[in-house]
Amino acid sequence: MGTVQLDVNDDRLTRQAHQALTASRAVGRPWYEPPSFEETVVDWRHEDQAEPKEIWVAEHDGEVTGLAMLYLPMEDNTWLAWCDLHVHPEHRRRGHGSALMDRVVERAKDARRTSLVTEFMVPVDEPEHGYRRFVERHGYTLSNTEVVRHLDLPVPDSQLQHLDSASRPRWAGDYRLETYVNGVPEALQPSLCEVMNQLIVDAPTGEIEYEPESMSPGRYREHLGVERQMARTRLTTVALGAAGEVVGYSDLVLPAGAPTTVFQWGTYVHREHRGRRLGMAIKVENLRRLQADHPERRRVVTGNDGTNSWMVSINEALGFHVVELSPAYQRKLD
Ligand SMILES: CC(C)(COP(=O)(O)OP(=O)(O)OC[C@H]1O[C@@H](n2cnc3c(N)ncnc32)[C@H](O)[C@@H]1OP(=O)(O)O)[C@@H](O)C(=O)NCCC(=O)NCCS
Repeated sequence: MGTVQLDVNDDRLTRQAHQALTASRAVGRPWYEPPSFEETVVDWRHEDQAEPKEIWVAEHDGEVTGLAMLYLPMEDNTWLAWCDLHVHPEHRRRGHGSALMDRVVERAKDARRTSLVTEFMVPVDEPEHGYRRFVERHGYTLSNTEVVRHLDLPVPDSQLQHLDSASRPRWAGDYRLETYVNGVPEALQPSLCEVMNQLIVDAPTGEIEYEPESMSPGRYREHLGVERQMARTRLTTVALGAAGEVVGYSDLVLPAGAPTTVFQWGTYVHREHRGRRLGMAIKVENLRRLQADHPERRRVVTGNDGTNSWMVSINEALGFHVVELSPAYQRKLD
């Protein structure tokens, strides 16, 4: 048994790594729709200068048994590294996970990171779940917990109309909403990026305090290019202020290989524009567009910190229900 860095141009090993990842993520989660190999490999082969990644695999008898993805932010939050580690369910409890963890700890230290952060999915009612035991045994402590909710589609038009009517009088006249497919126009990108970079600062994240992110229009366009290659669709609703600048946004992402699933990515309203029901307005608007253009999609998946009552109350009003938890654990490195 050993760990090696995955050569993402080695098709055979890369396919095995994808299989280990999707088999691991599927354990106990019948709703899980795995991403296709084709879209995964586009992501793995993309070299993101702002956040380089390393993929390490554990092998046994020439077969991949597990993988660890290590992300090293270079332009913000450079004190930390993210890791996502999976062992194929048929190869668990034989030390592969620990071998991968030791490897990424070593690599994160080499990159002078002082903290490793990992997130994973566990059932709501199992505080002693084995995945928690694993990271605790490796010196991690709980930082915060996101509650993962699903919204079954379609949401009845009458419900969306009701939520729209209740919020519109609070913002109409001062703001306007626009929805774009696969990215906003260039003129809106600088103000969108400014707003996006604040999300990590304002959203509750427990013990870990993050700096603003450093999304720039160039990097935003680079991400759109990768998503195009992955055949993903991104729906973005923005709220525009008096000067035509973005003051809030909400992103829905439709993976090509998971044809019934939609991921809710960021939703954020800038501090100076809160209290006008814009959060609800942009989500309702984006959902309407999703339902009109993509009736094949069956559910939206979202995660919110348990203490983020503002976002949770919007999601509950829309009909999201709790499915699982995504705890974030941190390990200090010396
Ligand atoms: C968590 C995970 C990576 C463990 O992989 P693994 O190869 O089984 O891990 P190891 O064999 O190295 O386990 C090391 C120790 O962790 C603990 N542990 C691991 N799995 C456990 C389980 N299901 N129940 C209780 N303890 C567990 C045990 O102390 C174990 O030592 P032991 O087998 O001698 O008792 C694997 O279950 C997995 O892929 N889970 C899904 C993704 C995930 O949650 N990743 C964790 C975040 S990085």
